[in-house]
This record gives sequence, C-alpha cells and structure tokens, in this order.
Amino acid sequence: MKMGELFVCAGAGETKCDCMIEILTDCECESTPPICCGYPMKLVEEKTADQGKEKHVPVITPVDGGYEVKVGEVPHPMLEKHFISFIELSTSNEIYRKFLMPDEEPVAFFYTKNEAVSARAFCNIHGLWKA
Ligand SMILES: [Fe+2]
Repeated sequence: MKMGELFVCAGAGETKCDCMIEILTDCECESTPPICCGYPMKLVEEKTADQGKEKHVPVITPVDGGYEVKVGEVPHPMLEKHFISFIELSTSNEIYRKFLMPDEEPVAFFYTKNEAVSARAFCNIHGLWKA
C-alpha cells in the first residue's frame, strides 16, 4: 500500500458500511488490504481524465497566499445525492483537505507558501479524481 491511497468498505448488503480510510505511510508488506465489515477493503482508483460533460478533475490556480482548487472546469453539481465531498491539495510535505456539503460551491482555498504538487477531489458517485 502506498501513502495517500484511499480504501473503502467492500462488504456486501447489510454488512457494507460507508467507511473510507487513508494510508499515511508506504507499506511493502504482502498482506491483504485492511478489513472492514469482514471483507478486504477496495482501493479507490484515482482518475485523471474526464469523459462526458460532467467535470471532476480539479483545477489548481495560484492565488495570493496559496491556491484555489475548483472541481472542475465546469462546476460539478452539489446536489444532496451527488456532490463533491472533499477537495485536497498536496505540497511536498503538506496535505490540506476541505470537506464539503451539498449546496456549497465545489471550490477550496488553501493557504501555503509551498508549491502545489497535486490536488484530488472525491465525488460521492464518480469516485476519486486527481490533477
Ligand atoms: Fe460526479
């Protein structure tokens, strides 16, 4: 497992919960992924290219004092059943994360003097997106 990977519960039916975890350090062991609800958790794949009209790939823009991260080129819907639940910005030694609720704008401002390396956004329907 690698630092920054996200895993979600992969249980079935009533044994599946909404758990999501993040790996904080690289791990070279050969053991199975973490277990949740009795099942090995599923790696959340990072997608980097949008298809279709809905946009998910974060857009990083330098602003005074840091960075603005928008999702995406065309603002993603923020509806009760379909929304961006968090936006992250990474530098070489920092990870910033803003959690969002439906009806909020899919945008976050992160104040840092360090150079942005990447950004990620999580859509509750379409998964994890990286720029
Ligand atoms: Fe979406």
